[in-house]
Amino acid sequence: MSILKIARLGHPILQKIASQVDDYGDPEIKKIISDMIETLEDVGGIGLAAPQVHVSKRIVIFFVPESRIEDEKDQVELTIMINPEIRPLNDKINRDWEACLSIPNLMGAVERYSHIKYSWFDANGKYFEREASGYHARVVQHECDHLDGKLYPFRITDLSMFGFQEEINSNIELLERGRIVSSDNKMLRNPNA
Ligand code: NI
Repeated sequence: MSILKIARLGHPILQKIASQVDDYGDPEIKKIISDMIETLEDVGGIGLAAPQVHVSKRIVIFFVPESRIEDEKDQVELTIMINPEIRPLNDKINRDWEACLSIPNLMGAVERYSHIKYSWFDANGKYFEREASGYHARVVQHECDHLDGKLYPFRITDLSMFGFQEEINSNIELLERGRIVSSDNKMLRNPNA
């Protein structure tokens, strides 16, 4: 296993549409996944998409940190997804803070679907699906966006809610005043996806 270099905002690989994985049993795919797990642990993040480690394939790993579990059913262990797909379950949207390992030190408030259904294949080619709400749904949408070449700042509708984590953390109440942010600010302790 090895710790991989993380591509940062501005690197073209982050804006490429990643290709589908056709051969789930490919040892190359297994190696990429174990390197992604080691890299995510090393940086202390909560999610990582293959394009972030310079591999333009539809692979995502993530978990929901304990601090963000609102309900027992939201408990999500490290999940390895190949060829994931997302479908919103309704039109409900919420806005909350996000950060990204490819955009160090910054954060922004992003609108996402509140309720989704998502599916994926594991490394044995087995199909899974889950429903998700709130933070869990947000992480999955953030990570899967990476597979379509989208980073969270591309989705920020109010750029006054974008900036350095350090500044925003010190001024969070002022920034959120009069604005709808469904955050309880726990994101600030677990910022990187
Ligand atoms: Ni990210």
